[in-house]
Amino acid sequence: MNRLPNGLTFSHQLLREAVASGDNVIDGTVGNGHDTLLLATLVGAAGQVYGFDIQEPAIQATKRLLTQHKIDPTIVKLYQKSHAEIDTVLPTDTPISAAIFNLGYLPGGSKAIITKPASTLVAIKACLKHLKKFGLVIVVVYYGHPGGLAEKQAILDFCQKLPQKRYSVLNYGFINQVHEPPFVLAIQKIN
Ligand SMILES: C[S@@+](CC[C@H](N)C(=O)[O-])C[C@H]1O[C@@H](n2cnc3c(N)ncnc32)[C@H](O)[C@@H]1O
Repeated sequence: MNRLPNGLTFSHQLLREAVASGDNVIDGTVGNGHDTLLLATLVGAAGQVYGFDIQEPAIQATKRLLTQHKIDPTIVKLYQKSHAEIDTVLPTDTPISAAIFNLGYLPGGSKAIITKPASTLVAIKACLKHLKKFGLVIVVVYYGHPGGLAEKQAILDFCQKLPQKRYSVLNYGFINQVHEPPFVLAIQKIN
């Protein structure tokens, strides 16, 4: 057995399980594009990734990363918009197999621009509406920054109230580490 994966690696392992060639998927916080890149390779030319970020530098960094990895640009639609607008962008009858959110601020960017509980919850709810049976909405919760604790609590409150007949919610994280390591919430639609 190797070491247990950290939150980020675990979230990617889940995406590899949940996403198949030809799927529609969402990256709700593209940032520097690492999740978008993985999603694009998983869905391939027949699939579609919808990526959202409010910051222009994040959209540009993601475009650069995709180009470096020779990803066909038609696979990824990038929107410089809040993920609260997912529902207005995604065609109504589009099923998704997965969505991922990395909360917090853009690594290497302004720490003042962070995800916020209200818009994050609107976005998660929109993704749940489009989620296929056994699909996953994954939230990597970083909460060590100012504002992070309130968002962490809001997301946990929401997840704990999801009806267990329709959704299973996993909480994966290390409970004996210093410096608030991120943890991963994975919501699976089961019914
Ligand atoms: C932790 S970073 C994402 C990291 C990214 N997944 C990666 O692989 O590099 C969080 C991102 O969320 C973005 N963000 C903040 N509020 C947002 C919102 N309402 N809608 C979409 N993106 C948002 C920030 O601009 C930032 O780039």
